Amino acid sequence: MRTSGTHASTERTEPYDALVIGGGIIGLVTAWRAAQRGLRTALADPAPGGGAAMVAAGMLGSVGEFQYGEHALLDLNLASAARYPEFVAEVEEAGGQEVGYRDCGTLMVALDADDRAHLRDLHERHRRFGLEVEWLTGRECRRLEPMLAPGVRGGMRIDGDHQVDPRRLTAALLRACERAGVVIHRALAERLTVTGDRATGAELADGTRVSAGQTVLAAGSLSARLAGVPPDVLPPVRPVKGQVLRLTVPAPYRPFLSRVIRAVVRGTDVYLVPRVDGELVIGATSEERGWDTTVTASGVYELLRDAHELIPGITELPLVETCAGLRPGSPDNGPFLGPTALPGLQMATGHFRNGVLLTPITGDVMAEALTGGELPPAARAFTPHRLDGAARTSFNAPQEQPA
Ligand code: GLY
Repeated sequence: MRTSGTHASTERTEPYDALVIGGGIIGLVTAWRAAQRGLRTALADPAPGGGAAMVAAGMLGSVGEFQYGEHALLDLNLASAARYPEFVAEVEEAGGQEVGYRDCGTLMVALDADDRAHLRDLHERHRRFGLEVEWLTGRECRRLEPMLAPGVRGGMRIDGDHQVDPRRLTAALLRACERAGVVIHRALAERLTVTGDRATGAELADGTRVSAGQTVLAAGSLSARLAGVPPDVLPPVRPVKGQVLRLTVPAPYRPFLSRVIRAVVRGTDVYLVPRVDGELVIGATSEERGWDTTVTASGVYELLRDAHELIPGITELPLVETCAGLRPGSPDNGPFLGPTALPGLQMATGHFRNGVLLTPITGDVMAEALTGGELPPAARAFTPHRLDGAARTSFNAPQEQPA
């Protein structure tokens, strides 16, 4: 591994083929895949391996997260989910560690008559879209998952929505990058460098000027804040807060749950993700609160209240962590992938609720875009060009700075 971070001011690097701005899960997979394709690759991030994936539960919910009207996103999500087993094997080999992939499926349940009617409707529509879902009675749900509340009224079994441990996956990707020769600059990218009509790299907070043939903006919720990017090119990405709880299931009580459990309780999503090692993640709030990452009493209370209605036994378990992160939200909930209107600048950001799920396909798509200059067909609906200038410019009006 080559690492940088103690440079004298204005040190200039030799030009790289690719510079990735942002070392979260999406930046790491992009840098790793680029280096695997033979590109001399650098990545800039003050704390690589951090970001939203440190908070995410790791549900791979292509079907469970499907919203009507988001058909292109569904196709992208399903394609990425299908890539997961092979991707995991490759990352585990390259990163030298397991990433906690579990092909356990998901059960979405309803607690009252209204929830049941909603879920029934969802089930019918999912079936019409050819998605693999099966309706179960409350009794059948409890036979699958005995810890469910006796009052569960029915559910939808989704055998293709699995899970992975995002913290382990990110750590393995960081190691894979290092082993593939990605040069990691442990400093914030402060400004995109533009020479003539091309992006040519970035200036980092430690004074380093990194030159690159292609620069990829992959800074998650911070992607709209990079100085030097023309306003009509900046991605309209905003932070959407999610609070999450981590409990642990003591060994004698395992398996407490054998699959991911999801529900809508009084109109709010709640999910429980049980890992093989006993961790049980409960998530997540969805809050439009700018850059705030405070864990609040109300956030913790509501998650525990809703999860307890589903699985009463959770209140017996040790609560080991509360945390909050920022999803990179986009106006249509889809990511921005590939070349922008500024030559030399590409994007891999705006993954919103699907960053972990979309990690495999984002790596593939970005490697293709960086080596061939074009987006592969699977990702064309997610070109950064898809939003018109007015939508972009009004979104990118000055906002409050992150703390
Ligand atoms: N994908 C789950 C969430 O964003 O909460």
